[in-house]
Amino acid sequence: MENRSRLFDSLVVGGQPLRNRIVLPPLTRSRATVDGVPTRLMEEYYGQRAGAGLVISEGAVITPQASAYARVPGLYSAEQVTAWRPVVEAAKRDGAVVYAQLWHVGRQSHSSVQPDGLLPKGPSAVPITGYQYRSPTGRIPYETPRELTTPEIAEIIKAYGTAARNAVRAGFDGVELHAANGYLIDQFLNDGSNHRTDHYGGSLENRTRFLHEVISEVARHLPSERIGVRLSPSSDWMDVHDSDKRTLYSTVVRQLNDLGLAYLHLVEPEIAGSTTVDSPADSIPTAELAALFDGVVIVTGGHDQASGEQLLTDGTADLVGFGRLFIANPDLPHRFRTRAPLEPVRPAGVYGGGPEGYTDYPALAASGT
Ligand code: PHB
Repeated sequence: MENRSRLFDSLVVGGQPLRNRIVLPPLTRSRATVDGVPTRLMEEYYGQRAGAGLVISEGAVITPQASAYARVPGLYSAEQVTAWRPVVEAAKRDGAVVYAQLWHVGRQSHSSVQPDGLLPKGPSAVPITGYQYRSPTGRIPYETPRELTTPEIAEIIKAYGTAARNAVRAGFDGVELHAANGYLIDQFLNDGSNHRTDHYGGSLENRTRFLHEVISEVARHLPSERIGVRLSPSSDWMDVHDSDKRTLYSTVVRQLNDLGLAYLHLVEPEIAGSTTVDSPADSIPTAELAALFDGVVIVTGGHDQASGEQLLTDGTADLVGFGRLFIANPDLPHRFRTRAPLEPVRPAGVYGGGPEGYTDYPALAASGT
């Protein structure tokens, strides 16, 4: 077949066939209730994007303390689990495989959103500098977090397991651990944010321990082949830096090879959280890290159909995430297939609000194909 799009090849992930190589990557949209309970509006949104081969939910926080922002959904209460079910069903409407992203922000939180009003916690009492917290009334400085105690670390690891079990109960096929973008797991990995002197800090073995303990705990509740891990190896967004990023992330990727995971999800160097920037000077090419991983690789960040196809052709990626394109084009797979024009994202409504800028982007077809 001439000019056949590889994005429409199928692939088996975690024992489940995906109908295409197109991924809805995790996107924070802040439409849950103030208690982190998924809403009917979210059901509509995910249903509109059900044409993806793999749908990864927006970050779902594993405890109330794990959150940085209002109206982010959680996976820690019975009410949340019940409310996720129709959302997951909607996302599966057209045959997509659906994973929940498990999220803990660590030091990226703020006392104003902590349930007890206390300071957020991280691996070490090292504040984020050079960035400001997105509060409802505007940008404000980050606070110096409290250092997690060993028992608190154990509690958080347990909470990852409970959230994974809740994800399964809500109907998700698997979970993705958010170990990217300077959130809690990433804070443990990088020596700029992890100054601990116990067995969670110092050597690479110690800094990767938290990630491995989280994976082991989550693997008590679902098979490892249903667990994915997301990394942003080149990003220094939110002040995560390491004295040797290349060694750090090559080691992390190699270690993951032994675990039989669903996938490794890599964020491109040009992505700083939710924005596009020049690649940091010490960027590690995505292809270099992808080549170190034996299993399925998802690559996300600034791609369009042509560059996504190229990633598949080059063998850098097995699956490609299209975040911003999916925000504005709910039927993105259908548009790719028919080479239809794409809508641009409107900045209003990306974070929070109602249907405007969320579920009011038009589809060209009733559902993606
Ligand atoms: C965001 O809300 O801007 C955001 C959330 C999670 C990420 C990156 C950005 O991993």
